[in-house]
Amino acid sequence: MGTPGKGLEHVILGDSAITLVAGETGGLTYRGYDIGELVPRASYEGVVHLLLWGTPPQADPPKRLADDLRQRRVVPPELRARMDAVPPGLPTLEAMRSLLSLLGGPEWSYPPTDRQGLELIAKTPTLLAQYVRQSGGLAPVDDRPELGHVAHFLYQLTGEVPTPEKARALEQYTVMLADHGMNASTFALRIVLSTQSDLVSGAVAAIGALKGPAHGGAPSKVSDMLDAVGTAENAERWVDAALARKERLYGFGHRAYKTEDPRAVLLKQVAKRIADPGRLRIAEAVERAGVAALQRKRPEARLFLNVEFYGAVVLEAVGLPRELFTPTFAVARTAGWAAHAMEQAADNRLIRPDVNYTGPAPGRKWTVPAA
Ligand code: ACO
Repeated sequence: MGTPGKGLEHVILGDSAITLVAGETGGLTYRGYDIGELVPRASYEGVVHLLLWGTPPQADPPKRLADDLRQRRVVPPELRARMDAVPPGLPTLEAMRSLLSLLGGPEWSYPPTDRQGLELIAKTPTLLAQYVRQSGGLAPVDDRPELGHVAHFLYQLTGEVPTPEKARALEQYTVMLADHGMNASTFALRIVLSTQSDLVSGAVAAIGALKGPAHGGAPSKVSDMLDAVGTAENAERWVDAALARKERLYGFGHRAYKTEDPRAVLLKQVAKRIADPGRLRIAEAVERAGVAALQRKRPEARLFLNVEFYGAVVLEAVGLPRELFTPTFAVARTAGWAAHAMEQAADNRLIRPDVNYTGPAPGRKWTVPAA
């Protein structure tokens, strides 16, 4: 662990038994299970079980939990009516921030419970998908009970049952994105919960933090970058020119990882399975050029790919439009947010750090003339 620095780098907030991010070695475990163990085998529902209750389910997907989420994902008429308060056509993540705040009421009061967590996990994709369809002038689709959480999310968006390949690719993405320790959005949520505020308020704050490109707002910019590069042959020239203009390469660099982000490695494998070969060739060329250029330019910063790079390639291949990339990240992360909310409340103390004051010395006199 390095010296504490700006942006709370290396500052220990407290204890957590949920997720271990081993930044120096590129490790990521949920409750002791390596992400490389989970991605090929676990369902999203299985990971929800693991994150919320600390233990794997007895069978995966866990039937009771899957049934519970299935029931909770249906939007009742009174909530559906409240959705009309969110005007159509907003930027999708901003709409999502508003949609989540439509949840709430006495049943969401502090302290957060696993039932509230499941409600958040189940309702978030439905609210998002119904809003997207409504904005496009389309009616919501009827529930398809045979579809699991992630496949149903895709179905709700498109109105078509996704192929098993696409559904599984997106499910693996959501497994990888389900939690990530004390990232900015989870920290924001934990601050809110530490005031004894409710889970919905915490999730709304978390979405606000997720929006920025230094956190969850990067993946659509990765796609824009791959478009701008255009061909694999152009990657090196494009990357060098972008860095010369002092631009950041999206999908590269991470506060915690000083080696490859393990999710980037796994997402590349998923991308190889489902992405268009031409797109993949450009992505691989940008990866090579970017890692090499950043190593030449800032070797001590140890900048490698992060989750957003091949995350974007996978989301494209699944057929999601760019404005849904960060909202889909949020859909996946609701599991981690719910787990962290409960952990915060279980041993709570108000999070209230201090700052080193650098303003004028106290004692100034108010000599402004009266208007
Ligand atoms: N491209 C170019 N230079 C970079 C990049 C990058 N992607 N990342 C870091 N650097 C450079 C910075 O310019 C900085 O140099 P400077 O001190 O000369 O300005 C140095 O490396 C250290 O960068 P910081 O911003 O201090 O590193 P920090 O740990 O605060 O930031 C972050 C991490 C925000 C992810 C950063 O690497 C970045 O901006 N990446 C691009 C955006 C991105 O991919 N965001 C998604 C992150 S993953 C997630 O949150 C889910």
